Amino acid sequence: MILTVTGLSAVRSGRTILHPTSLDIEPRGRIGLVGASGSGKSTLGHMLIDDLNAQGHSVAHVPQSPDEALDPLRSMAFHWRETEVALGLQPGSADQAGLFRALSIEDGDIRERPWGWSRGMQQRFVIAMALISSPDLIVLDEPTSALDPVVAAATMDLLSSFLDGKDTAMILVTHDLGLAARRVDRLMVMDAGRLVEEGSTGDILEHPQTPAAKALSAHRNWMALPC
Ligand SMILES: Nc1ncnc2c1ncn2[C@@H]1O[C@H](COP(=O)(O)OP(=O)(O)OP(=O)(O)O)[C@@H](O)[C@H]1O
Ligand SMILES: [Mg+2]
Repeated sequence: MILTVTGLSAVRSGRTILHPTSLDIEPRGRIGLVGASGSGKSTLGHMLIDDLNAQGHSVAHVPQSPDEALDPLRSMAFHWRETEVALGLQPGSADQAGLFRALSIEDGDIRERPWGWSRGMQQRFVIAMALISSPDLIVLDEPTSALDPVVAAATMDLLSSFLDGKDTAMILVTHDLGLAARRVDRLMVMDAGRLVEEGSTGDILEHPQTPAAKALSAHRNWMALPC
């Protein structure tokens, strides 16, 4: 099913930070939402999660840092259980072993609190929680920027493999074209609260039309980066 949002906008402190924006997301779509810092990527990400949830679609969100998703005083098992309950599942009914294997965190001790896991493992745990319900869409907002490049690349590889063949669509919010170039087949470029350009990843990287896309793709070493 195509996910559609229409006329999303946001005003904060009297300033329009997201101008009316509409978009369609195809099942299995792999979309990069790119743009300079402050261009409105996270705002659009949050607005479309709220809108699609209100329409009855299941949309999961992975924040930039696992700190935003994990309470340092609670065990990993607690977080997992809370997520199951929030999704209306019986505790213990999600395929934890399968998701942990898919994200290569099966050695993590879920009785530990977050600090007992490395940050890379914490972030993969957060991604595993986001995938519990096989959402229609997963929105990842700078999901690997707190990780070292090798762990970041491995995390994105594990996620890509897991999503292969599933209907879940993905929006990857980033200002890192190195990350986007390898992971998504469509790019949406934001500038000053507007979606200013949209197209296949290759086209936008090779033939950017707008100043915002030109500025991003000017850094031509993006394919050489590990993630
Ligand atoms: N609650 C708020 N009140 C006022 N301004 C806000 C608020 N939230 C966001 N903004 C402003 O809206 C603009 C867009 O912010 P947003 O966080 O969506 O950008 P972004 O593209 O995700 O940036 P980054 O790459 O740095 O994460 C910024 O100028 C930001 O300062
Ligand atoms: Mg942001």
